[in-house]
Amino acid sequence: MRVCVVGSGGREHALAHVLGRSCDVAVTPGNPGIPGATSAPAAEIDADLYVIGPEAPLVEGLADELRAAGRLVFGPGADGAQLEGSKAWMKELLVAAGVPTAGHGSFTEPDGAIAFLHTMGDLFVIKTDGLAAGKGVLVTEHRDEAEDAVRAYLSGEAFGDAGRRVVIEEGLTGPELSVLAVCDGRRAVPLAPAQDYKRIGEGDVGPNTGGMGAYSPVPVAGADVVDEVMDRAVLPTLAELQNRGIDYRGVLYAGLMLTPQGLRVLEYNVRFGDPEAQVVLPRLRSDLAGLLAAAAAGSLEETPEYGDDAAVAVVCASEGYPASPRTGDVITGIEGANHEEGVTVFCAGMGVGPVTAGGRVLTVTGQGSNLSSARERAYAGVAHIDWPGRYVRQDIALSAVEGEAAP
Ligand code: AMP
Ligand code: GLY
Repeated sequence: MRVCVVGSGGREHALAHVLGRSCDVAVTPGNPGIPGATSAPAAEIDADLYVIGPEAPLVEGLADELRAAGRLVFGPGADGAQLEGSKAWMKELLVAAGVPTAGHGSFTEPDGAIAFLHTMGDLFVIKTDGLAAGKGVLVTEHRDEAEDAVRAYLSGEAFGDAGRRVVIEEGLTGPELSVLAVCDGRRAVPLAPAQDYKRIGEGDVGPNTGGMGAYSPVPVAGADVVDEVMDRAVLPTLAELQNRGIDYRGVLYAGLMLTPQGLRVLEYNVRFGDPEAQVVLPRLRSDLAGLLAAAAAGSLEETPEYGDDAAVAVVCASEGYPASPRTGDVITGIEGANHEEGVTVFCAGMGVGPVTAGGRVLTVTGQGSNLSSARERAYAGVAHIDWPGRYVRQDIALSAVEGEAAP
């Protein structure tokens, strides 16, 4: 089978790497670190299956265009991609489907938004309605800061048009979890759960990023938790999409919080997570291409198979990420990292040289028999890699490893 992967990040590199176990893979546009990268647009690439990585082309309707041309596509159409393209639409659908989620209001005018803030508890969450590369969420205990953010979002100053509508949510607390389900329009199967690290700073401080690291499996998320996520979130959401005439074939990624009151969906993404894909996909034992092709064809029958190994992914970012990443620095050590046992480097914001060309530059994934060994391997890989100002969180998977070591 020949597969075309659309996108240029670490997630697409991981997709291409794992699909490459059984297929020929082309990646468009890819980046200089991804084998099979080509500048030809997807529609000009002859493939048996098209896998669309990022949210933006999904929201813009690339899956619809390719399907209209008779291609087999893994990724929702623009209708289903609204789950990620509009948080207000997503929240309305969750409420209609009876899926547990944070209480919220959605606003286009500051007065109503600020009045709503005054009715809330002591943790304020402000989100852009539209896409903001994972950076459009502010969580704060200070109402003043929340009010300032509401004004900056709604005026367009902070996130352009993406922020001209805001969703304000009650603040929840508890461990977070990502469950990615592969959907064929009617049925869904979960992949192994992962935990993502969204904040830039160690100890989960500072601004939100696209994700600074991830690990899988997640000790707090056993089979019972995954079953609950499927029964209370993914399957009712898929049924509600169907009620609305939306044939959702792609990944439904549930970003969840395990609160003292039970699980809550914080968000849906309509694609594989980045860097979750870099831990969840390499762990897969069964054939990824067959799974995605079956989902794309609406005939999902198999369940993905995992062993009891573990993976930890550590993102290497540019100085200044996420606000203003510096680019153009020469990267060294990728080959040395790839030679470490159990280590794979996935390239993202990288240009020819290789030089840094974005905020998140590389993801280093370590795989091992448990989280502790996977983590050691990931950081052993990271130790090879360098450029001026390279930034790495040192605490990825640390608490999970300490939990694993506890009696
Ligand atoms: P989202 O893009 O909606 O997943 O939000 C990004 C991050 O903001 C999440 O991973 C959480 O850490 C945090 N967050 C989002 N919604 C809430 C909420 N209602 N309460 C507390 N934290 C939240
Ligand atoms: N790592 C979070 C995301 O992909 O949105």
